[in-house]
Amino acid sequence: MNGNIANNFGSFDVVFSSGNGSTLKDVNGKEYIDFVSGIGVNCLGHNHPALVKTLQDQVSKQIHISNYYNSDIGLEYSKKLLAITKMDKVYFGNSGAEANEAAIKLARKYGFLNGGEKRKTIVALEKSFHGRTLATLCATGQEKFHPECFAPYPAGFKYIKANDYEAIKTAFDDTTCAFMLECVQGEGGVNLIDSEWAKTACDLARKAGAIVIADEVQTGFARTGTLFASEGLGIEPEIITCAKGIAGGVPMGACLYRGKADVFVSGDHQSTFGGNPLAVSAANTVLSELSKPEFLARVITAGEKIRKTISGWNLPCVKNVRGKGLMIGIDIEQTSGEIQKKCLENGLCVSTAGANTMRFLPPLVITDKEIEKGLEIFKSCLM
Ligand SMILES: Cc1ncc(COP(=O)(O)O)c(C=O)c1O
Repeated sequence: MNGNIANNFGSFDVVFSSGNGSTLKDVNGKEYIDFVSGIGVNCLGHNHPALVKTLQDQVSKQIHISNYYNSDIGLEYSKKLLAITKMDKVYFGNSGAEANEAAIKLARKYGFLNGGEKRKTIVALEKSFHGRTLATLCATGQEKFHPECFAPYPAGFKYIKANDYEAIKTAFDDTTCAFMLECVQGEGGVNLIDSEWAKTACDLARKAGAIVIADEVQTGFARTGTLFASEGLGIEPEIITCAKGIAGGVPMGACLYRGKADVFVSGDHQSTFGGNPLAVSAANTVLSELSKPEFLARVITAGEKIRKTISGWNLPCVKNVRGKGLMIGIDIEQTSGEIQKKCLENGLCVSTAGANTMRFLPPLVITDKEIEKGLEIFKSCLM
């Protein structure tokens, strides 16, 4: 079913051709409710009028220029983004892994400037996921992502258990340059991070001389009901990385940084496509839409509706429902991959986060009607 595309993803027997709102259509005209949104990417859904117009307008002006130069839209967007996030600088890349690579380099340079050779270790969390490049695989605290065939891996990463107070007592010292966390772990199982624990861990990391990196690639741009999930946890990271929802489907990543982490100088890090005018124009429109009154409140009520409805079914096969905003995990008795396949056959796209965990990441603009229709399909597939 993959044609000549590299066989790295398990591909389902469906070919999509268009979408509208939170509904996708395949080449045979069959409709599907979308609870995946391109794995948390299409935050404004499909065919969003403002995003379509922006992209059409931008295409007729300029698609790409080199980072030798600035673009008017790049300057406008970065100014707006930094004002909202209260960060000092932003590096634009093309993906989450690249944003995290930039963050890792920033942390290592910060460590080098503030402790020399020995301050190089990044403390990350077990069950985390930070990307598929060699360094971001190493930051990822899951053994299955470190197979022997890709070795040797970059050194300098260690892992602690999330929400474990004992672990943070000894985790950070004068060899630590950064503490890196996802504010809700996505790929690792939709695991919630306790706010008090996160604040204490960040305090201890900073006391040891390290900086804090929040990987908001999946949680950023309103996914959890605040613009960034770090706000929800009450932590103020020196570095925030994002991608996925940032430009509503146009490939883009960003590494935002401030204060002590502001250590890049010209030539330290670059990307040919990073921040190109087409991607940034999309990001500018996404940010305007997310900033509209009631947008964030709706993400929260839509998420609550999904969680409450599923809990209310009282199905013995549903073991746990959790999440924040529209990032939802459901532990089930069945194999998640089998339910995912069954849902697709019945007109619902869902994702998984572990052998027995379903993950819902619907567009942030999903309507009550679309939620109800999708959940009806989900329930019928569980029974
Ligand atoms: C938290 C987190 N970080 C990083 C990444 C990697 O992003 P990308 O696939 O855009 O490289 C992902 C992707 O799922 C993610 O969820």
